[in-house]
Amino acid sequence: MNEINAIADLVKKQLADDKTGHDFSHIKRVVKISEKLSDMIPSSNQMIVLAAAYLHDVIDDKLFKDVNKQKNLVIDKLSELDFSSEYINQIMNIIEHMSYSKNLTNHYQLDVNGQIVQDADRLDAIGAIGIARAFYFGGHFGDNIYDPNQLLRTNMDKKEYRKHTTVINHFYEKLFKLPNLMNTKAARKLAASRKKYMENFVNEFKNEWQ
Ligand code: ADP
Ligand code: NI
Repeated sequence: MNEINAIADLVKKQLADDKTGHDFSHIKRVVKISEKLSDMIPSSNQMIVLAAAYLHDVIDDKLFKDVNKQKNLVIDKLSELDFSSEYINQIMNIIEHMSYSKNLTNHYQLDVNGQIVQDADRLDAIGAIGIARAFYFGGHFGDNIYDPNQLLRTNMDKKEYRKHTTVINHFYEKLFKLPNLMNTKAARKLAASRKKYMENFVNEFKNEWQ
């Protein structure tokens, strides 16, 4: 699909300088998982799934200051590639509503294509890769690894969520919750084993800390 290659090129350029765990390798993993999930779900539209998987972090407000500029960039590219306005709306709707932070206080009901990309993005946040990304992200923003006196937060809105505590707290505040939030059966199964791996890691971490 030539259109998908053109989208990939745009995304690669946009995320080239990322040092927070949202670089092009994250995108490629999300695309790969999305493609596999889409293969298992005949009602999905692979063109929309792949486009949204590539583009999902290009309009993220934690990565880009001017989100409207980013949205326009995406819409212009999709129009230039002759995507119909119906497809463009579907892709934009997915990438505007799929993030964890957006869904803290509202729950957005995504269509099947969005559910697939959301699951794939969330799978890349857990397991061994998830552990590496969490510490890389925490280091980038100057967070502490762990502080047993830092209380865990519950019922956060997006503003509260964006204030960091410690990386170990992030496992409880987000990462351990993801398996239960998966939309598709295949992702839920993969997520369960990735969660176990993270739980073992955090248990061992706490043992060594003492
Ligand atoms: P979304 O893009 O779905 O809103 P987030 O912004 O919560 O998701 O996070 C994307 C990834 O960045 C996480 O999966 C994690 O790897 C990392 N991350 C986000 N917030 C933190 C944090 N406070 N501490 C460590 N890692 C974080
Ligand atoms: Ni992502």
